[in-house]
Amino acid sequence: MMEKESIWQQTTEFPVRPVLQNDIRTEIAIVGGGMAGILTAHLLEQSGHSCVVLEADRIGNGQTGHTTAKVTSQHHMIYQKLMKCAGREKAEQYARINQEAIRRYEILIEKYQIDCEWTECPSCLYIKQAETEKEKMQSKALTRALRDEYHIVKELGLPAEWKKETELPFPVEGALYFSDQARFHPLKFLRAIAEEIQVYEKTRVLRADSHVLLTDHGRVEAEKIVFACHYPFVIRPGYYFLRMHQERSHVVALEHAGNIGGMYLGIDAEGLSFRPAGDLLLLGGKGYRTGENPCGGQYASLMHRAEQYWPDAKKKASWSAQDCMTLDGIPYIGKFGRGTEDWFVATGFGKWGMTSSMAAAMILTDQICGRENTCAEVFSPQRLHVMTSVKPFLQEGVYAAVNLVKERIPVSGETLAKIKSGKSGIIEYDGEKKGVYRTEEGQVFIVSLKCPHMGCQLAWNEEDKSWDCPCHGSRFDYQGRLLNEPAQTEIACCTSACRQEE
Ligand code: FES
Repeated sequence: MMEKESIWQQTTEFPVRPVLQNDIRTEIAIVGGGMAGILTAHLLEQSGHSCVVLEADRIGNGQTGHTTAKVTSQHHMIYQKLMKCAGREKAEQYARINQEAIRRYEILIEKYQIDCEWTECPSCLYIKQAETEKEKMQSKALTRALRDEYHIVKELGLPAEWKKETELPFPVEGALYFSDQARFHPLKFLRAIAEEIQVYEKTRVLRADSHVLLTDHGRVEAEKIVFACHYPFVIRPGYYFLRMHQERSHVVALEHAGNIGGMYLGIDAEGLSFRPAGDLLLLGGKGYRTGENPCGGQYASLMHRAEQYWPDAKKKASWSAQDCMTLDGIPYIGKFGRGTEDWFVATGFGKWGMTSSMAAAMILTDQICGRENTCAEVFSPQRLHVMTSVKPFLQEGVYAAVNLVKERIPVSGETLAKIKSGKSGIIEYDGEKKGVYRTEEGQVFIVSLKCPHMGCQLAWNEEDKSWDCPCHGSRFDYQGRLLNEPAQTEIACCTSACRQEE
């Protein structure tokens, strides 16, 4: 089963790139053909280096194809967190590089005359006006926090403004605007910037060892290696699996919805996001941890809200995104880990992939070229912010342990015969615990429930009809095919219906 296509994917064709055919050597190998990988390759080539990009699927088919494509330095309420855990200097670094990232996009678009619907607009965090007593209590605290954020970002020199009115279809308690931010069509931009870059598609990197990458189609030897593949699959060094989890969120593209020009994100419990895209309005919903969506209903609840605000609204497209979340909310950009001097990483962008991709490309290019980047320190993958990292680190460990043990807990009475059309279940089959999905047409797909990454038990995702790993976020369709890393292989599917679409 294919994942749902975003409006960006529906409106962009990429020329097919070759599959790696034999062993090659290159100066810099970049793993991942999304925005971060392609931008890093571009900036490195502009600095006189030669690069090869290795992409497991097609260029831009991962998170870059599923983003809402907001280019902004406003990343939820990150600045008060930074001030608290890392101090003013690092908060300034974060603000500066993200503002620079916006300008750098503009420079590239202007230089190469890229037609990618680049539009300057404000970005805004808002709190919807409370209706119930319980909401009023919560919104008071949130308003205080958002006001604090306003004072901090003003101090940091960001283009911020506090308002009580917005263009949203409901009243707000308060709104923190950043001016001169932007939105664009990410795949039109990516296609143009990738044109001159040597990319091998359908070439999955399976192992990394010193200066060698082993792919499913050959070996790549490189002086330097950049991991820009969303979630680094290498377990040691780096131990990124202990320091990140993944979250999913959903978007509907609406026609006949309101006339909204800016990009909005609610920091209240519902956390809705709004941003225009041509004649459409993108309405997004609050995320949840991958592997924690047994009942689904996100698209329906987004449509319910849309119809409440705009009774004539019609859904033109819908899709989901998956984001890597770090312990302290700051991406990991820089040297990969101990003992791998020539490895670099860019990951953990949270929900801010487009701006963070550019920031990562600028920082990594400087580091690889031996130039100082005065904003790099805050992103160092080797940092430890005790105040904000230790508790989530321990929670991640406990969470993974619980899901590892689950795999060994016996099945509770579910049988194949009891699983109805369009439903899933967990059964005992051939002496092992298996996941089952019976399609609406009655075909049965039985898959292994053991995640090939590190063995956690997969959980059913009703919204996307997939088996998702709660530990680190690998995902598989109901036929067992790999949808999201860090796992690198599919899961075994053991009925005659398996792979019948191929
Ligand atoms: Fe790590 Fe599944 S993604 S165990």
